Amino acid sequence: MDKADITVLIREAFEAQKYSYAPYSHFFVGAALLTAEGRVYRGCNIENAAYSPTNCAERTAFFKAVSEGEKDFTAIAIVGSGGGYVSPCGVCRQVMQEFCRSGEFQIILAKSPEDYRVYDLGELLPEAFICPCAAPKHLTT
Ligand code: THU
Repeated sequence: MDKADITVLIREAFEAQKYSYAPYSHFFVGAALLTAEGRVYRGCNIENAAYSPTNCAERTAFFKAVSEGEKDFTAIAIVGSGGGYVSPCGVCRQVMQEFCRSGEFQIILAKSPEDYRVYDLGELLPEAFICPCAAPKHLTT
């Protein structure tokens, strides 16, 4: 991805953040997931009084996209309200691993459209678990 595309995706993540529902943590997260065909799915974190039903912004974006038939992803941009880079939690990394592969999926952690870091999925989830019997056909090699 070139810098201009990354900037666009980060701006989409900031748009997504506006809908963050975080009355408990007050930590507002937005994500923007880019498909191989160039579509963008936005997601925000959605908290719950019972805490454990809380959904992270990244998973919201993934579940929205997959539920619309998307399975081919290029990158995700993530922004948060804390002033620092928001690195995806372990559960979200595993969800990314379900549909994306090391070397093929970029994770952009952004403080602003100009201040960001780019990681590959393999860097953030090395030695990932892949169940051979459950691997969907489109991901088997
Ligand atoms: N959160 C995300 O949405 N994404 C992350 O990568 C880290 C954490 C949310 C979950 C919860 O609503 C709040 O941030 C505090 O953990």
